[in-house]
Amino acid sequence: MSDASYPKDFLWGTATSSYQIEGAWNEDGKGESIWDRFSHTLGKIEDGTNADVACDHYHRWPEDVDLMTRLGLNAYRFSTAWTRFLPDGRGRVNQAGIDFYSRLVDGLLEAGVTPFPTLYHWDLPQALQDEGGWTVRSTAEAFVEYADLVSRSLGDRVKNWMTHNEPYCAAFLGHEIGCDAPGWQDWGAAIVASHHLLLSHGSAVPVIRNNSPGCEVGIALNHEYPEPASASAADVRAARLYDGYYNRWFLDPIYGRDYPADMVKHYKAEGYLPDGMSFVEPGDMETISAPLDFQGVNYYTRVILRDETESGNLPPSVVQRQPLTEMGWEVYPDGLYNFLNRFYFEYRPVKMIVTENGCSYQDLLGADGAVHDESRIAYLKAHFHSAERALEKGIPLAGYFVWSLMDNFEWSSGYTKRFGLVYTDYETQRRFPKDSFYWYRDFIARNE
Ligand code: FCB
Repeated sequence: MSDASYPKDFLWGTATSSYQIEGAWNEDGKGESIWDRFSHTLGKIEDGTNADVACDHYHRWPEDVDLMTRLGLNAYRFSTAWTRFLPDGRGRVNQAGIDFYSRLVDGLLEAGVTPFPTLYHWDLPQALQDEGGWTVRSTAEAFVEYADLVSRSLGDRVKNWMTHNEPYCAAFLGHEIGCDAPGWQDWGAAIVASHHLLLSHGSAVPVIRNNSPGCEVGIALNHEYPEPASASAADVRAARLYDGYYNRWFLDPIYGRDYPADMVKHYKAEGYLPDGMSFVEPGDMETISAPLDFQGVNYYTRVILRDETESGNLPPSVVQRQPLTEMGWEVYPDGLYNFLNRFYFEYRPVKMIVTENGCSYQDLLGADGAVHDESRIAYLKAHFHSAERALEKGIPLAGYFVWSLMDNFEWSSGYTKRFGLVYTDYETQRRFPKDSFYWYRDFIARNE
């Protein structure tokens, strides 16, 4: 396969997040987050673990920056932990937290790696959760205080910001399905939380711009590509509904279109909104649609929708296809192309960045320290090919961040899933580059 031409300044990156790699969960004045609380609660994490230590990146970050240098990355996406800056969520500032990220940013810049921090990758201060978390409006206000502090502290050197990672997950996995912190199962709460997450995003954008002159600001949304299982009206409706729930509920307001009317109607009909959309105050929708410099797209898989309630539904013409990754997610590279394509032409973002893409497989560390992860290489090759198709089509794709630099704490799956280009031996904290690491290094070298 010949590599297409990537723009000269294309961002070659990897992504991580604070809670998944840092460890040092209660060191140097850090406050407790909802993920600390959740993982310390019996039964919430598949293997009974937590990220108290994780990859110990808090202490080993220089070694991890060396790995990035060896890969030849020119960009790195990480997230800042709110509880390191503001242990109680607002008010009291923890200087040690500022200093940690300041050193990391300096280390990245010295290594020629552009920092792309995300302010919120799900680790809300527990103190704010105790007041209602994302279901109360004051949390959005506290987020602005946090965004102000971080962008004032790092904004002289950081010029690329993301407000949130995957507000879908924070709202719906956290409050509707309950598999993520804070672990609620309440549709109404999830919908209100989604509004406050979006409101906090839009409110923070001008604050970040003001503190970090010349910077670019975006958000990372996650997308599953929905396809109806058949051409029947029922399946098409099911796919449209899922698209509304997962994709349009976030895209539409950010791009100035208000919440999708079909979804509001649906949620009302289901009884999830007894007071309607009363939590939306005048001016909120304008705030949420603050213009962005780039749109981050996290893409892993597609989903095929089938209306099981409809008798006489057409037989499925699209079925879940193999192969699956360890997560049980279908490998479907066309979905990345389809999504970039649809998203760009439907919403017209200024530019797009793949802010996460990657896969988990059962990687085995050989006695020689090698990890032969052919499946991961195949997955990445195919997905980069989709990115190339998007570039050829004229979609302004500016970068690609592979999830993840190294194996880490995969939320409610604990350490049972490995997504890294680097194998983490959690016993010794030694890092072992996998074959995919060398593949990505060579791919970058050929294409940059
Ligand atoms: C995404 C998350 C990221 C990681 C990957 C596998 O939804 O943003 O933290 O867990 O999935």
